[in-house]
Amino acid sequence: MPLVYRPARADDLAATDALVVACINDLTVRHGFGPMATASPPSFQLFSLEDDPDGLWVAEDGEEILGFAWSWVCGDVWFLAQLFVDPARQGEGIGNELLKRTMDHARKSGAAHKALITFTFNRVSQGLYMRHRLFPKMPIYFFNVERERIRQTLPQPPLRATAIDGGAATMENLAGIDSRAIGASREKHHRYLLDDPATKGVLLYAGDDIAGYGYIGSNGHIGPLAVPRPDLLRNAFATMLKLAADGSAEKISAFLPGTCDSALSLAIDQGMRITFPMLLMASPGYGDWTQYLPRNPGFM
Ligand SMILES: CC(C)(COP(=O)(O)OP(=O)(O)OC[C@H]1O[C@@H](n2cnc3c(N)ncnc32)[C@H](O)[C@@H]1OP(=O)(O)O)[C@@H](O)C(=O)NCCC(=O)NCCS
Repeated sequence: MPLVYRPARADDLAATDALVVACINDLTVRHGFGPMATASPPSFQLFSLEDDPDGLWVAEDGEEILGFAWSWVCGDVWFLAQLFVDPARQGEGIGNELLKRTMDHARKSGAAHKALITFTFNRVSQGLYMRHRLFPKMPIYFFNVERERIRQTLPQPPLRATAIDGGAATMENLAGIDSRAIGASREKHHRYLLDDPATKGVLLYAGDDIAGYGYIGSNGHIGPLAVPRPDLLRNAFATMLKLAADGSAEKISAFLPGTCDSALSLAIDQGMRITFPMLLMASPGYGDWTQYLPRNPGFM
């Protein structure tokens, strides 16, 4: 049966999630990191498919899905959320074909910037992305820690936090922060997060001034987090750590870019541990994040 590349459908997404989990764990186990991924409902994939079906592609051989690519666009930013090929069929050109199709998505959308987060230890993905003119920009470390370990030592939260509502004024504030931090408004993605019962979002204030926003999952994961100025990042991260520490999750985690010195110092001083080294790759001129902590490699 010849390989077919076709747009993904909603009923593919459970199978593509299983494929992605298997590919990630194959890679991380091979490199000595142990399994990293577990299956989860493909809610954000489904949200992206309904929002903009041009960004999701599968490679199929008969009934079997062998590869999956998924990109989304916000304003001027195109982001490759996932690109995965069945470990038994890697190195045959499938990833490159899928990537070409998502690159067409970027072209059609007119996005000025392209970015993705990949594994620092995957030579294949990095080489393939460079072939498509996406270059290594900075490391992003996945940090975590037992909640009990940081509970006693954290200072009082330096910023005031109030729950994010879906009102127009709040959305305007979030769009303003995102434009400064990452160069695009992500209003639709904030609406997605607000609908997620396992995630809580807060606006952060220094006095009466808005000093950023952050989200915490019920699993203790912090992110995305963004601030309107780089000097606000440490206090914003400290506040989110305190909120997470006051919660009930066993572990607390976050993705911290290598350019965010103040957040990295705080994480290390609090005993957080680097678990997985990741890498931001981007089109030239994009990706100096000093005001943004991504949620994960798919959401950004
Ligand atoms: C990354 C991945 C999607 C690529 O798909 P694939 O079908 O294996 O890749 P292809 O066969 O289309 O292309 C491989 C290309 O990578 C590049 N490449 C491979 N090894 C390389 C190396 N050591 N140095 C530089 N470039 C390299 C080459 O351009 C190669 O093409 P070529 O063999 O024609 O020269 C797939 O290997 C995969 O799923 N890996 C595990 C998960 C992962 O890391 N995904 C990316 C997450 S962002």
